[in-house]
Amino acid sequence: MHTLDEVNKEKLPKHIAIIMDGNGRWAKQRGKLRVFGHENGVEAVRNTVENCAKLQIQCLTLYAFSTENWNRPKVEVQTLMKLLVASLRKELETLNKNNIKLKAIGKIDTLPQKAQKELSEVISKTSKNTGMILTLALSYGSRDEIKSAVKEISIKVKNNIISPENIDETVINTHLYTHFLPDVDLLIRTSGEHRISNFLLWQIAYAELYFIDVFWPDFREHHLVEAILSYQNRERRFGKTSEQLT
Ligand code: FPP
Repeated sequence: MHTLDEVNKEKLPKHIAIIMDGNGRWAKQRGKLRVFGHENGVEAVRNTVENCAKLQIQCLTLYAFSTENWNRPKVEVQTLMKLLVASLRKELETLNKNNIKLKAIGKIDTLPQKAQKELSEVISKTSKNTGMILTLALSYGSRDEIKSAVKEISIKVKNNIISPENIDETVINTHLYTHFLPDVDLLIRTSGEHRISNFLLWQIAYAELYFIDVFWPDFREHHLVEAILSYQNRERRFGKTSEQLT
């Protein structure tokens, strides 16, 4: 089984993003309710955050709740929110001990008050940390994010703050929820599904995609290492030829 020490520290992805999928199916396989899968998914979150911090990955972004997830049964949404609040409360000390800065992206104002309060408290209490940036995507949808950016830029154009000729990628980047993050280098999705599901569509333009067949609650160190080793063995050409890179 792969371990963290196999990873080449000179060629680390700066930004890893993960679509944590398969909690429901993991629970069903065990004859349990879907929420049991989410509860066990929390341990995989802890483990992955810890391992990324150990590797000194600069940014880790986790898709924890999408704009579409609001359509799930009420009890499931409530459980996810409760798990979020409990985990934030429980992990504050560990985040600080590991010098991790917490951030959130998405329509945060649509979350329950309790979740918003806990989130802003942990964000503020970890804001001075200088190690890994851990970003939770909550009530997040990429099309929604792009729509908001277009709206904000249009208003600035209308008010003569930006001229249309000056709209470039940097202007767009600075109006996205992720303005404080670099582009994604490695996108991992668990559970065997090969989809992006409205996650960071702009930011993954040149990301390496890695799909793995395990359900999220089972995702551990050797899976993360496998994904990073696969990333490290790929040639990232950014549109150039192999010869141009050497
Ligand atoms: C996808 O599995 C998972 C989610 C929608 C939520 C992820 C949440 C957690 C891992 C727990 C709480 C998170 C934090 C940050 C503390 P699914 O339900 O879509 O599984 P399925 O595809 O098998 O139905």
